[in-house]
Amino acid sequence: AQSDLAPRPPMGWNSWNHFYQHVTDADVRAAADAMVANGMRDAGYVYVNIDDGWQGTRRPDGTIESNNRFPDMKALADYVHARGLKLGIYSSPGPRTCAKFEGSYGHEAQDAKTYASWGIDYLKYDLCSFGDVLTKAGNGDQSSPAAFAAQRDAYRKMHYALVATGRPIVFSLCQYGMSNVWEWGPKVGGNLWRTTGDISDKYDRMALIGFSQAGLSRFAGPGHWNDPDMLEVGNGGMSLDEYRTHMSLWAILAAPLLAGNDLSQMKPEHLAILENKDVIAIDQDALGKQGDRFSAVGPYEIWTKPLTRNRMAVALFNRAELAHTVEVNLRQLGVPTGATIRDVWTGREMQDSETLNPIVPKHGVVLLLISR
Ligand code: GLA
Repeated sequence: AQSDLAPRPPMGWNSWNHFYQHVTDADVRAAADAMVANGMRDAGYVYVNIDDGWQGTRRPDGTIESNNRFPDMKALADYVHARGLKLGIYSSPGPRTCAKFEGSYGHEAQDAKTYASWGIDYLKYDLCSFGDVLTKAGNGDQSSPAAFAAQRDAYRKMHYALVATGRPIVFSLCQYGMSNVWEWGPKVGGNLWRTTGDISDKYDRMALIGFSQAGLSRFAGPGHWNDPDMLEVGNGGMSLDEYRTHMSLWAILAAPLLAGNDLSQMKPEHLAILENKDVIAIDQDALGKQGDRFSAVGPYEIWTKPLTRNRMAVALFNRAELAHTVEVNLRQLGVPTGATIRDVWTGREMQDSETLNPIVPKHGVVLLLISR
C-alpha cells in the first residue's frame, strides 16, 4: 500500500459541493489561485481535487480524454503544481460515474497511467455504476458477500494500477460506508474511505453524518482515515455556529478537510472558520488518533481527541434548538488542576476549574484545546 501517503488527513478543496458536474478548468485554476491568495495553502490546504464531470470519451486505443471544459489536463496540473499545490481527479470502478460520465471499468491500468502522465496526485474512486457489472455477471444482490468481495477486488485492482505507475497518488475510496469499509479499506490500498452517504449544506444532514461517527475512531490512523465527506463551510446553507460545529466535529474525527465552496467568492467569516489554526492543528495532530464521543446527555454531547505533547481537544456540542449550558467535569477527562485551556473559536484562555458549564448556542459548539 502507498501507506506513506496521507500521514495526516488530506486537506484541500474539491469541486463537487459547489460546482457539481459543471466544473471547468477555469474554476479549478480560480480555486488554486484563491488558496494561495487567501492563505489557505499556507494553512495546510494542499489538494485541489476535480470531482465528477471532467471526463470526455475514449480514443480508439481506449485512452480517456478530458471533455471540452478541460482542454489540457497536463497544463492544468502544471498550473496547480507551480503554486505549490497538488491536483486530484475522480473516477469509478464501474462503466459510468455517478453523474453518468465515463468510468474506469476495464481500463484501470490505462487510466492510472494517463493520470500519472498528467501529473495527478490524488484519485477519488466512486462506486457508482459498479453494481451494473455485477448485475450483468448474474449477481443482482448488491449487498451479498459476493458483491462486497467484488467491490474489494475492484478497489484493489485500481490500487495496484496506481502503484504500478510509480507516482505517489493518494487513493480515496467512495462506496458510502457499506460493508464496514473501515475494516478492509486499508487492505485494498485506501488512504481514506467514505463512511456515509453524501453530505449536503444543511445542518440536519451534516449533524446526522458527523455524530454518527461515534465508535469508528480505532479504524483511523496515519495513512488510512475515515472520511465523513467533504466540507460545506461557506456554501451558505448553515449558520456560522453550525459551520463551526461542522468544522469542530470534522477536526475531532481527524477527517479529511476538503473545502467544498467557491473559494473565489468567500466571506471572511467563512474563511476564518476554515483557517482557524487551532482547529486545523487538532485535525492534523501528529499522533494521528481520531477522537470519539465521551458522553451524550440528550442533545448535549462531549467528544474528545487525544493530541501530542499531552494535550487533548474537548468539544461541547449543543444539538438542541435553543442555547443551553453544556457541563463537563474536566477531572473525569483526566485534566489535572492548573491545566491551560483555550477556547478555540474565541481564542480566549479559560480559567481551569473542576467543572466548566459554558452556554453553547443552538446547534453550536465550544471547542477547547487543553494542555495538561
Ligand atoms: C457520489 C459521491 C459524491 C460525488 C458524486 C459525483 O454521489 O458520493 O461525493 O462525487 O458522486 O457524481
